[in-house]
Amino acid sequence: MKKLIPYGHQAIDEKDIEEVVKVLKSDWLTQGPKLEQFEKAIAEYCGVKYAVAVSSGTAALHSVYIAAGIKSGDEVVTTPLTFAATANMLVQCGAKPVFADIKKDTLNIDPKEIERRITSKTKAIVTVDFAGLPCDYDEISKIAKKHNLLLIEDACHALGSEYKGKKIGSFADMTVLSFHPVKHITTGEGGIILTNNKDFYNKLKTIRNHGIVKKPENGKWYYEIEEPGFNYRITDFQCALGLSQLKKINSFLNRRRQIVSSYKKAFKDIRKIQLPIESNGVKSAWHIYPVRFLGVDRKKMFDYFQANSIGVQVHYMPLHLHPFYRKKFGYKRGSFPIAEKYYERAITLPLFPSMTKKEIKHVIETVKRFQNKTT
Ligand SMILES: Cc1ncc(COP(=O)(O)O)c(C=O)c1O
Repeated sequence: MKKLIPYGHQAIDEKDIEEVVKVLKSDWLTQGPKLEQFEKAIAEYCGVKYAVAVSSGTAALHSVYIAAGIKSGDEVVTTPLTFAATANMLVQCGAKPVFADIKKDTLNIDPKEIERRITSKTKAIVTVDFAGLPCDYDEISKIAKKHNLLLIEDACHALGSEYKGKKIGSFADMTVLSFHPVKHITTGEGGIILTNNKDFYNKLKTIRNHGIVKKPENGKWYYEIEEPGFNYRITDFQCALGLSQLKKINSFLNRRRQIVSSYKKAFKDIRKIQLPIESNGVKSAWHIYPVRFLGVDRKKMFDYFQANSIGVQVHYMPLHLHPFYRKKFGYKRGSFPIAEKYYERAITLPLFPSMTKKEIKHVIETVKRFQNKTT
């Protein structure tokens, strides 16, 4: 196979392109009707009252942390097994990300570890539904309530995931999604915040738009800045793409599930591979498919995939091992042994809705060939 099979890829069709072009030919490139339509559609899909769409998942996290009042001197408990933005944005607010180790089976933050890390400075808990598998929200909500902490969900991997029969979006005080091209639906770049809390909703809209608060009682032009905000706006043509993509979410999710079934069936007798699980009562949206290779040289395996035109990835080196987090907060190797052990063995295999049968077969055969070479 010559063409590289990436680990994730968007699925854009002619209808998506048509919808974007329609907006480009209209009067509203930004802050027009598509924005509200998109927000409403995502809120409805996730069963939440309010949605605020922004320019990226990272902008969504930053906005949420500001709306939550997270500031210098605060501590926030989160997982080390996530993309940098989850913790980076806490640092941008002046707070300390206090990592809590993951559970070996689900790869999500361990509720027992969360509780162990709570101090008088803790302001919030930030969960990440790793690879699309929802965290243990019954347990984590109890902890948040008991300690009077805000619960924030980084669900950038989890649009369409379900926990106990309910879609993600309303388990936390605020929930963040990303629409980067490898995610379940895309707007190019983009993100959204979901909440049932009207105060947070109003704050988030203000943060997105420079901190502008309109006061028409003083004249129709009149506004004031009470707190400085950002330009985190998303364009209307991006929202049109998002709306068109959302219409296909069920087929996208089903296709991801089918590919996961093919992998499961093909790898079930290979003892050296540990596959990601779906625990009781939860349904993963399967954003990525991170497998653990046991007793195998991971670097060699990674290079073998690349040499065979398979663009595997590693999600993720735990954040506490990055130089910044080590230097600034004193984290070191050994601080979170379960996340570290997972990382040493992990490789993410390709998984995206437009993956062809031939591509799936090629990935499976390459895994098997490498296994045969090394046993
Ligand atoms: C868990 C997680 N959080 C946050 C983000 C940031 O989203 P974006 O790339 O849209 O800024 C990502 C994106 O990859 C992510 O995977």
